Amino acid sequence: MNKFFTNLSKPEGLGGRLMLVAMNIGHSSLSNWGLRRLAIKPEDRILDIGCGGGKNIARMLKKAYAGKVCGLDYAGASVAKSKSLNRRAIAGGRAEIRQGGVSQNPWPAGSFDTVTAFETIYFWPDFVNDLREIRRVLKPGGTVFICNEVNKPEEGEAPYQYWIKKMDLKIYTSSDFRRCLGEAGFIGIEIVTKGKSRICVSAKAP
Ligand SMILES: C[S@@+](CC[C@H](N)C(=O)[O-])C[C@H]1O[C@@H](n2cnc3c(N)ncnc32)[C@H](O)[C@@H]1O
Repeated sequence: MNKFFTNLSKPEGLGGRLMLVAMNIGHSSLSNWGLRRLAIKPEDRILDIGCGGGKNIARMLKKAYAGKVCGLDYAGASVAKSKSLNRRAIAGGRAEIRQGGVSQNPWPAGSFDTVTAFETIYFWPDFVNDLREIRRVLKPGGTVFICNEVNKPEEGEAPYQYWIKKMDLKIYTSSDFRRCLGEAGFIGIEIVTKGKSRICVSAKAP
């Protein structure tokens, strides 16, 4: 049971493949809630980090219908599932999925209008430096957009304590987000929460 749930942080093998299908379905409500808060233009170039099963890439391809949506994930199973789900867009040159970690982003500086991260920052090794790496690949004025199911209040505990402890998840308050994004050089930070259960954070590269 617990080993199965480690597939949330790095999907592998059969359990990982099942988890990716489950996440593509189970994260729909959160993703659609978040995406309603992200302005995407038809010609935008977007990178989704921790792309998992690739459903958010598919969703954003519909909005960026004249642009390109790329995906990055360190898990081979996530890359394979994202590629399979978005194979037509990849064949048409409108999507590209690469395997790699958030800390060593393989794209050159200034590649993207928007970088998204859905349900993945809990696992990132060095949040401020990882945000700096995102700023590097954003165009000036580009947007970083983070969307999470778990929103830690300034006072008291976040929900889902059992899983947070079991999986050593990194959970941030709104003031943590403001501090980390500021340290990474972002400006124009905006945060929307829905109770303790949802948060989306956006900020601009200068
Ligand atoms: C809980 S899943 C979320 C997947 C997808 N974004 C979604 O909302 O359904 C987390 C994903 O982030 C990836 N991930 C975690 N840490 C990562 C890192 N340091 N670099 C790249 N990908 C990472 C995992 O492999 C996994 O596919």
